Amino acid sequence: MTTAISVLEYINSCIKKEETDLNDIESFEYHLSKLEELGSHLLFKKFQAKGFFESNTFSSLEEAQKNVNVLPKYNRILASLFELFIRHGYIVEADNKKYKLNINLTLNIDDILKNLKNMRSINSEISSNASLLTNVIDSYFEILSGEKSIFSCIFPDGSLEVIEKIYKESPDAKYFNIWCANILRYYSDFMSKAQNSYFSIIELGAGIGSTTEHLLNQNINYSNYTYTDISRAFLNHGARSFKHDFIKFKILNIDNDSQLQGFKEKYDIVVATNVLHAAKNIEETLKTVRNLLNKNGIFIINDGVDKRDFSTLAYGLLDGWWTFEDPHWRIDDSPFITRANWNKLLHSAGFTHVTSVNEITKPALKLLQDVIIAL
Ligand SMILES: C[S@@+](CC[C@H](N)C(=O)[O-])C[C@H]1O[C@@H](n2cnc3c(N)ncnc32)[C@H](O)[C@@H]1O
Repeated sequence: MTTAISVLEYINSCIKKEETDLNDIESFEYHLSKLEELGSHLLFKKFQAKGFFESNTFSSLEEAQKNVNVLPKYNRILASLFELFIRHGYIVEADNKKYKLNINLTLNIDDILKNLKNMRSINSEISSNASLLTNVIDSYFEILSGEKSIFSCIFPDGSLEVIEKIYKESPDAKYFNIWCANILRYYSDFMSKAQNSYFSIIELGAGIGSTTEHLLNQNINYSNYTYTDISRAFLNHGARSFKHDFIKFKILNIDNDSQLQGFKEKYDIVVATNVLHAAKNIEETLKTVRNLLNKNGIFIINDGVDKRDFSTLAYGLLDGWWTFEDPHWRIDDSPFITRANWNKLLHSAGFTHVTSVNEITKPALKLLQDVIIAL
């Protein structure tokens, strides 16, 4: 008999048998952390050039930012940046929430830009991340004041090229997308033996299709692949990239009831890569997911499970980064949810069995993303 536990045990045993190679990720993570340091430092210097902690006086953060023109909607990202500036030691707390400049900082903007340039030419794997970060930091104050849209930095001249490279080609993105595909293959192998050989799948926030590409590459019989996103532009992009009779492209907002959006049928598989952190209320979104799933259906979540400075710096100015209304479930100063909180959330949403790739493979390296499996 097929039960959630038998499916999960099979998937678990297959994951254990798979060889994992973290060499590429290790090198990428090393360079990304260097990029995060340079990006944070550059942004701090730009704040300083605006009068933020220019002198050696003690100020509260509110006093320090008085020369920076900021729309109220950006208050959350500013709080997150201050945390980052303090953690990196650019400003130090002196007394009772008063801070002052760390006088030991020696690099100036030109030095930092030179280091960034060197880094991009030496480490091709990091160059898309570096160009996104420098685009955003170059326009940071125009975005904060509302003169410019962050989208013009993320999609320069409307191009998806940089973001596609980051989401499709970076070693960490590839690694977790391949795990999503592997898990789906194990699930379909097991279920085909038991009863079913055609599977229906719905992908949430499919965006540029970086996970889709991998899921379609497997030898799985899909009766129906429903590619969804909140944005029509991404559905159009998906329709240009994936041309199979069984794929449908539909708008679905994960913040709203799926039935009210016309999704009446149930699916064997729900996949969500890098989108659930954008949910306004994760408990409500998980109810929607539950409603979309068949009995013995599988839910695969591929998302950040820890704070990442690159994401704060590059994506923190996006309105969607801070729309969450349930900070008690999130990591401080970030929309991400820890693995431990995912466990609690998924169990209370009615999933009886939950595990994850990192939990099973126990990587020697600290990974800030995970693929969580719930049945
Ligand atoms: C970071 S991208 C990830 C795209 C893709 N899954 C990947 O990993 O390459 C997030 C995607 O979620 C979509 N999104 C954001 N908020 C959403 C919402 N409330 N409902 C559905 N999709 C949403 C965005 O339009 C975008 O395509």
